[in-house]
Amino acid sequence: MPRTLAVAVLASGRGSNFEALAKACRRAGFPASIELLITDNPNAGAIGIASSMDIPFVVVDCGPKRGSMSPDSSAAMARVCEEHGIGLVCLAGFMRIVKGEIMQRYAGRMLNIHPALLPSFKGLDGQKQALEYGVRYTGCTVHFVDEGVDTGPIVTQRVVPVRQDDDVERLSARILAEEHIAYSEAVRLFAEGRLRFEGRKVIVSDESK
Ligand code: GRF
Repeated sequence: MPRTLAVAVLASGRGSNFEALAKACRRAGFPASIELLITDNPNAGAIGIASSMDIPFVVVDCGPKRGSMSPDSSAAMARVCEEHGIGLVCLAGFMRIVKGEIMQRYAGRMLNIHPALLPSFKGLDGQKQALEYGVRYTGCTVHFVDEGVDTGPIVTQRVVPVRQDDDVERLSARILAEEHIAYSEAVRLFAEGRLRFEGRKVIVSDESK
């Protein structure tokens, strides 16, 4: 019986990606399980989801600086992940740039989801940026986290056509549905040991190890 990969999700808000991942992980035969939610926001919707799914959660005070995390909070996250035997950290709407000890400890073992086809429309409001730019296709990207913002090696992408009459809300909803599929697919590939780096490229092997 193959070992199940223990995953922690870092989320600051509503938590729909966290929920989709947690549900995917509970399907029979899925090679990963969500063991922990970490949030910087005591009011995050993700906390209610964790409670209803019996997933432990931790609120870590990341300090007053918006978008940034204090060294102590990074060390605290690394410690709690270690205590839970976490092998993969998934950022899902975590609104701070990850750095410090958790970044070092989980380099190559940390994923993020972004609501655009990277390297286009990095940073905040990827859906709005795409709409305003006038692209015909946008989508979502799951990528490894590196020191930059939305710059790490790409694991998977899903394409969403932009409609003439789209507004940010409608487009975001269609992208979100694809995010939920893309994230669990990327976690599955990682958990099956099917991802390897060639420079900044991620090569996906066909068979699970
Ligand atoms: C998603 O659009 C994700 O791509 C972005 O933040 C949003 C989080 O949504 N990074 P949710 O909290 O998972 O519902």
